[in-house]
Amino acid sequence: MGFLGILVQVTWVAVMLSELAAAAIAFPIAKPHCPDKCGDVEIPYPFGLTNGCSIDRNFLVNCTNSFGPTQPIILGGLTATHFSLEGQANVLAYMAKDCYKQGVLDPDLSIWTSVYLNSGPNFTVSSTQNKFVVVGCDTYAYLNTQQDKGNFSTGCVSVCENTWYIVNGSCSGVGCCQVDIPNGMNYVTLESLSFSNHAKVGAFNPCGYAFISQQTKFNFSIDSLQSLQHQKEMPLVLDWAIGTETCKDVVNKSSYTCGGNSTCIDSDNGSGYRCKCMEGYQGNPYLHLGCQDINECENSNHCKLPGQKCINGLGNFTCSCIKGYHLDVSAGICVTNQSSRLVTLLVGIGISFMVALVCSSWLYLIVKKRQLIKLKQRFFEQNGGLILQQKLSKQENSAETTKIFTMKELKKATNNYDETLIIGQGGFGTVYKGILSNNRIVAIKKSKIGDESQIEQFINEVVVLSKLIIGMWLNY
Ligand SMILES: *[C@@H]1O[C@H](CO)[C@@H](O)[C@H](O)[C@H]1NC(C)=O
Ligand SMILES: *[C@@H]1O[C@H](CO)[C@@H](O)[C@H](O)[C@H]1NC(C)=O
Ligand SMILES: *[C@@H]1O[C@H](CO)[C@@H](O)[C@H](O)[C@H]1NC(C)=O
Ligand SMILES: *[C@@H]1O[C@H](CO)[C@@H](O)[C@H](O)[C@H]1NC(C)=O
Ligand SMILES: *[C@@H]1O[C@H](CO)[C@@H](O)[C@H](O)[C@H]1NC(C)=O
Ligand SMILES: *[C@@H]1O[C@H](CO)[C@@H](O)[C@H](O)[C@H]1NC(C)=O
Ligand SMILES: *[C@@H]1O[C@H](CO)[C@@H](O)[C@H](O)[C@H]1NC(C)=O
Ligand SMILES: *[C@@H]1O[C@H](CO)[C@@H](O)[C@H](O)[C@H]1NC(C)=O
Ligand SMILES: *[C@@H]1O[C@H](CO)[C@@H](O)[C@H](O)[C@H]1NC(C)=O
Repeated sequence: MGFLGILVQVTWVAVMLSELAAAAIAFPIAKPHCPDKCGDVEIPYPFGLTNGCSIDRNFLVNCTNSFGPTQPIILGGLTATHFSLEGQANVLAYMAKDCYKQGVLDPDLSIWTSVYLNSGPNFTVSSTQNKFVVVGCDTYAYLNTQQDKGNFSTGCVSVCENTWYIVNGSCSGVGCCQVDIPNGMNYVTLESLSFSNHAKVGAFNPCGYAFISQQTKFNFSIDSLQSLQHQKEMPLVLDWAIGTETCKDVVNKSSYTCGGNSTCIDSDNGSGYRCKCMEGYQGNPYLHLGCQDINECENSNHCKLPGQKCINGLGNFTCSCIKGYHLDVSAGICVTNQSSRLVTLLVGIGISFMVALVCSSWLYLIVKKRQLIKLKQRFFEQNGGLILQQKLSKQENSAETTKIFTMKELKKATNNYDETLIIGQGGFGTVYKGILSNNRIVAIKKSKIGDESQIEQFINEVVVLSKLIIGMWLNY
């Protein structure tokens, strides 16, 4: 029973650990009465589709379908595919390319020789998630950026005569090169140029390509040298933040944006700050009442152990025991009062039973020993031991001439009445040769006393013989 209990407890703990994942709960992402979607893309505040729905006009998103399907366009003109409340946005940006036919620039395909990427004032190109990539076998390309305090450029060159050394999946200098980009860029121009108009490599590489791409979204292969000419845009990641001040400077100002139950985080990759819901809260931290307590008890597997109930608190939850159960502090689980009483009862019964068993067997042994002593005394009396003692006590020097041996001593002396030691048989008994523990050789007579009348006779015989050294068996 006790072992079963332990097994069940271990299983409960395992279940508890495996059920810790909480399910997501829907929450409003946009301001009240504001549309929160453009096409398939969710538009969370501080972004908005109309005036009054975004934090300011810089965060307005133009939901347009002028180039096909409905798409959100951010201020800089980039098409967004996802806005995250963790301060990032996924957008598509044009790539630069220069394409040639028989060594002559192809005007139809090459309108993109130079492109610009404008992420607007509140976005910067993520330097951690993107790279500047140049693809081609007769290509060099520049990335130029205009910053407040100065302009700078970087670039990449890739020249190859054939595709022999190209490794699929590796943009490491053969047919493809890439460089890290600096932090904080929001206006970038890209230029793709050729040394000899792809005259020698046109058969397998008609164009040069230059673009900024999210690292995980572009996988270079031999195919890219041709196939990129049919592609216009590349996915990249922008960082966004609110304002230009740090949390410390802004937290007590009226412009502070983070809503209730949220905290402020300094933007790590640029200026400004971001908002984040506090632990145990969920929602849009930029909205006034955006972060709401997560009811961990609803729609989740918390506190699902037997006897438990979940109590939601602000920002957290506790598991407590339902009626009829109580907390087993050592195991941290709820156990029924009944079953624990039963266990206690059973343990109690077990212990009492053991104690009783030990005591009673101890008593039994004592009683048995006493009975044995009494029995021996009775046999001693029955077989004339007392009479013998009396008679001997009257005799002089009896202590020196007579000794009463115990049955054990005689048994030893005769080697358990070994037949080979028999030295005589008589009407009243058998005589054995015996060796005492002090190596004295004695004759031992084992009497065959039939009735009590013979005892007296036997005793007298012993007394007479007591001048000699004999052993006598007295069933003692
Ligand atoms: C939204 O985009 C369309 C098409 O690009 C443009 O005509 C319109 O002026 C834009 N509206 C705003 C408010 O930027
Ligand atoms: C950066 O380049 C732009 C465009 O070429 C130019 O107008 C601007 O003056 C340059 N900025 C500096 C600080 O040189
Ligand atoms: C990139 O392409 C190579 C070869 O086509 C493939 O082995 C590799 O798994 C791809 N990697 C990614 C991240 O798609
Ligand atoms: C590289 O990938 C292309 C397809 O993109 C494939 O045709 C070619 O066989 C691949 N080469 C190697 C060496 O894997
Ligand atoms: C900031 O940069 C770190 C790496 O330095 C990156 O892990 C993180 O995603 C970036 N955060 C934002 C908001 O861009
Ligand atoms: C966006 O950037 C502009 C220009 O720097 C700034 O005035 C504005 O406050 C920014 N908007 C937000 C919400 O940070
Ligand atoms: C903001 O104001 C509160 C109350 O006025 C004050 O306790 C706190 O120290 C201020 N925080 C900062 C960063 O100035
Ligand atoms: C904080 O969260 C609690 C629980 O959801 C909510 O009642 C309260 O209004 C929130 N506080 C603010 C300032 O939003
Ligand atoms: C749960 O949150 C409340 C309010 O913030 C707090 O008083 C309490 O100590 C928290 N309980 C636990 C178990 O964290």
